[in-house]
Amino acid sequence: MEPHPEIGPLLFSTEQIQSRVTELGAALGRDYEGRAPLLIAVLKGAFIFLADLVRAVPIPHEIDFMAVSSYGASTRSSGVVRIVKDLDLELEGRHVVIVEDIVDSGLTLSYLRRMLAARNPASLEVCALLARERIGPAARADLRYVGFDIPDDWVIGYGLDVAQRWRNLPELRIWTGSH
Ligand code: IMP
Ligand code: MG
Repeated sequence: MEPHPEIGPLLFSTEQIQSRVTELGAALGRDYEGRAPLLIAVLKGAFIFLADLVRAVPIPHEIDFMAVSSYGASTRSSGVVRIVKDLDLELEGRHVVIVEDIVDSGLTLSYLRRMLAARNPASLEVCALLARERIGPAARADLRYVGFDIPDDWVIGYGLDVAQRWRNLPELRIWTGSH
């Protein structure tokens, strides 16, 4: 990608991401052996993570997608989470893993958890590529699988955007633009 003033310092290289995703996939494979888990990616940010993750999960499983929106076009939380696209599959009796790009305030996830738990899955866990170091120990303990714990800088690339831009960067970088 061409250099651009909004594309800041490298956070994790493609090699670092791939090796961590491989470890997460192996862990899911061990933990869900014989249970055919249902991996639910939260669009749009998690689409690249899910695509790599499924290729690292060595056991049979299914995928589904849902889209929620907790931000408008800016990087500031509106405090409102809205379902933009619901699931196709039923969750009753399924072992469900929510696949998220980043847990920032945790607002999106706590909403999703409540909503999906109400559909009676056999189990419900979270696999997040990134989690803010700032989230409290209680919220962090709720995240079964986390790729990397990161500071507060806005992150772009590997599916993560700013107002729909920069998702196509192959690595994770700090955004150095301004609102
Ligand atoms: P939360 O509800 O505050 O946890 O935010 C969840 C959503 O905000 C994530 O799933 C992302 O889509 C988005 N988000 C939060 N921080 C970042 C970031 O640094 N880069 C890109 N998207 C982010
Ligand atoms: Mg998201």
